[in-house]
Amino acid sequence: MAEYREVQSFPIAPRLTQNPKPHVNDSTYKSDHAASLKNPDEFWGKLAREMLSWDVPFRTVRAGGFENGDVAWFPEGQLNASYNCVDRWAYKNPDKVAIIYEADEPGNHEEVTYGQLLVQVSQLANALKKMGVKKGDSVIIYLPMCPQAIVSLLACARIGAVHSVVFAGFSSDSLRDRTVDCEARVVITTDEGKRGGRTIATKSIVDAALKECPKVEHVIVVKRTGNESVQLQKGRDQWWGDVCSRERAFCPPVPVNSEDPLFILYTSGSTGKPKGVVHSTAGYLLGTALTVKHVFDVHENDKFACMADVGWITGHSYICYGPLMNGVTTLVFESTPVYPTASRYWDVVDKHKITQFYTAPTSIRLLRRLGEEHVNKADLSSLRVIGSVGEPINPEAWEWYNKHVGREQCAIVDTYWQTETGSIIITPLPGATKTKPGSATNPFWGIDPVLLDPQTGKEVTGNEVEGVLAIRNPWPSMARTVFNDHQRYLETYLHPYRGYYFTGDGAARDKDGYIWIKGRVDDVLNVSGHRLSTAEIESALISHPGVAEAAVVAMPDETTGQAICAYVTMKGDYDGATDDSLTKELVLVIRKNIGPFATPKRIIVAPDLPKTRSGKIMRRILRKIASNEGDQLGDVSSLADPSIVDKIKELTAKK
Ligand code: WT7
Repeated sequence: MAEYREVQSFPIAPRLTQNPKPHVNDSTYKSDHAASLKNPDEFWGKLAREMLSWDVPFRTVRAGGFENGDVAWFPEGQLNASYNCVDRWAYKNPDKVAIIYEADEPGNHEEVTYGQLLVQVSQLANALKKMGVKKGDSVIIYLPMCPQAIVSLLACARIGAVHSVVFAGFSSDSLRDRTVDCEARVVITTDEGKRGGRTIATKSIVDAALKECPKVEHVIVVKRTGNESVQLQKGRDQWWGDVCSRERAFCPPVPVNSEDPLFILYTSGSTGKPKGVVHSTAGYLLGTALTVKHVFDVHENDKFACMADVGWITGHSYICYGPLMNGVTTLVFESTPVYPTASRYWDVVDKHKITQFYTAPTSIRLLRRLGEEHVNKADLSSLRVIGSVGEPINPEAWEWYNKHVGREQCAIVDTYWQTETGSIIITPLPGATKTKPGSATNPFWGIDPVLLDPQTGKEVTGNEVEGVLAIRNPWPSMARTVFNDHQRYLETYLHPYRGYYFTGDGAARDKDGYIWIKGRVDDVLNVSGHRLSTAEIESALISHPGVAEAAVVAMPDETTGQAICAYVTMKGDYDGATDDSLTKELVLVIRKNIGPFATPKRIIVAPDLPKTRSGKIMRRILRKIASNEGDQLGDVSSLADPSIVDKIKELTAKK
């Protein structure tokens, strides 16, 4: 733990000592956190009444638990998520801006007020009803970043339908699998997408996927580029504009139970098949609302900018639900950090006077590399809190963010959470926490983190210790199940260490009790903050007819955090392409099966893989070789063929 001891700690940021006064300070953080663990019923009951608007009040705060995997919060209550995110603000102040849409080409931006949002959500909700979508039905949303993505989520929620957003970078095969798995009958997409000046053929990807989705009856198509070569299939496809414009501008929100699912979001686990993580309505809304308010110290007139994509959980929680639950303005950003130049993010902050800015370490590292001049020329004085999420942030990137973006005036929040946790669970609070670059610091309300010994499962107590990170008690926004596979939910999260929720991450606690996240201890990779399963990439590679075996490991990368390194062996009778053209074929196979963001940085075709005598591939050895630590392999004599190690080292060095 020596590496954590010497770091500088940063006091409360200057801008957080001015007006508006932060919601939380050091002493209220400590007392509220203690109260949230000691009297959870009282603590959460009060917040749920304050922050959510209920159609039917709840009587019970918590029910069930980790033992039986039957966690439930506010079980008798009924409410509607879109009412909570839209109507209550639209009635109070219809002209307040809900969404700023910053299009790919700079100079093009649009604003949607809460009043307009209510009309748009209502019209789409009415259209979905007409298509026969009912409470509990799934709707697939395959949309790039556009205001209609937010409208779609909320329109589903308005009628109690369950949205399942598929990131628009996924291939048609991935889209097909998810559409079939969640039994959707309606898909929402665009004619094309625009990102970083490039065009994404979303509609044709949908067309390819739907060839094998017999249940889908309707496709709603947002016109984004207007490219006339994009065809609508008669009887199945309709333009968004046509579908919505004929509908009435109000749709009554359907009250649902607190525990009814709000959405399914697929995520990669340690086995091949992605899991449909299911989130509840009330608990999820409370978690996202509360973390936006406290982790980002949001006040009424703030403009919140989360640069993630709505296809990931960060976009769900911190572009859509969390900011709108607080009635503030949220940014929908269609472009990239470097389009048309590396000052795009800062131009956006400057232009819209953004108050909270939230991005991933990979973007911070990229922009740091591209030079200070891009950030220094922007006026960033509107910012108060700047956040990081998705992977551990290295101290150099943290300090650059603090100095050049925060100008040493803003709170930096390194927020740790997961698709399954629904909202941020370990994080500094702007007015309360002294920060240390690289540490996610302290638990949020209701979170009781523990470090467990991975072998014995016993709690590792005291400070300056390491272990696997687990959480002791249920919290409102945690996922409730895996769609159609509750057993897998239990096996992945609740059974590995009985009585705890298992995160899959390793972590350390330093001398001050601060938590440092070290990364996954399972077969999950984190590339640019995108979560990928090694097993999923391996099974894609094996679908190439020539591949006999595949082993995928992480290698460190300066910008993306981790990068993918794939080792393959070819079948004995394989007589197809070799070298570069084989590599190209393998890349194509991955792009087709998963999507371009899963492309390996290196693909190494080896004569054999390091295996034990019983035939098990020793990924540990490959991991070391790929990370340039091939000289630290230790004893390899137990391998079936120890000589393969040197051959693989040589091939890796050549790539
Ligand atoms: C995994 C979850 C929900 C956030 C976006 C990714 C890693 C996330 C941090 C952080 C260190 C982090 C963990 C986690 N991670 N935030 N602040 N510091 N690691 O969501 O795709 O569900 O991935 O991202 O490894 O388990 P996800």
